[in-house]
Amino acid sequence: MMQRLHPQATNKPARGSLLGIEHMEAKDILGLLKLARRMNPLKSRPLLRNKRVVLLFYEASTRTRSSFELAAKSLGAITCLVLSSGSSVEKGESLLDTGGTLRAVGADVIVIRHPSAGAPHLIARHLDIPVINAGDGMHEHPSQALLDALTILKHKKSFKGLHATIVGDVYHSRVARSACHLLTKVGVPVTLCGPPEFVPEVASTLAPGLRITRHVEEALRGTDVVLLLRVQKERLAGQKIRVQDYVARYQMTAARLKLARRDAIVMHPGPIIRGLELTSEVADGPQSVIMDEVRNGVPMRMAILARALGKAR
Ligand code: CP
Repeated sequence: MMQRLHPQATNKPARGSLLGIEHMEAKDILGLLKLARRMNPLKSRPLLRNKRVVLLFYEASTRTRSSFELAAKSLGAITCLVLSSGSSVEKGESLLDTGGTLRAVGADVIVIRHPSAGAPHLIARHLDIPVINAGDGMHEHPSQALLDALTILKHKKSFKGLHATIVGDVYHSRVARSACHLLTKVGVPVTLCGPPEFVPEVASTLAPGLRITRHVEEALRGTDVVLLLRVQKERLAGQKIRVQDYVARYQMTAARLKLARRDAIVMHPGPIIRGLELTSEVADGPQSVIMDEVRNGVPMRMAILARALGKAR
């Protein structure tokens, strides 16, 4: 019988897929975090020996791509990197045909970053292998939210009694969307702060337990976790807000950070733009855990890959 280039949609992503935080249950999130705490990138564990992990990236990435690759290799998997640039995507190959092709060459799991929201979900519904969302448009970035939660747990021991504040361009941020879902599911109330162009009123309906303020000083008072977002300068074109106004009203400075709890941590998914969303003094200061987030990306992604391939033990 002739084999289809890509099977018809199954409507159900394969078990082990990680497409977003929105539909995950808190117990699954906590289980993944527990598993990540047991992962040690410096101590090879061949849990995924001979498994093939394909990294399919349609957008630029440094942290997500390198940490998924190192995570896979730390677990003994074979990795294959496919960048849309230089691949047959440039000749017009569709997303589904690309997915089917990678499955045919032997992929056991596909990690995909794509500029369109929903692209990982689409490919997942057409493949019989797990798909991991490494960031889809303005939708979700689930592995980032999980590594951020792991970072919070490592610094704060527990989510109990914590309050988080997210400052910046929430509207365009898949990181913010996944973080809001995750933090509120584990019982951490979140304050969103920014101008209306970045934090529209409707953002408060994203998850229960979200509050909005336009005043960074108010947002910071008493908070335990400050999550800053990159200002995407390209998104400011045509907006009423100007870079100078944003810096004046929202940039994280050492003086502003003093309003947060003394032991508050400063997070940022990266890449950071020094002098824009934060000063170098804050980025490199004692409360910054930005490099810990990057470091924690490897064990967190080891756990995600192990779960995807049924080796979560
Ligand atoms: N945080 C994040 O997604 O970074 P990269 O774009 O470098 O992967």
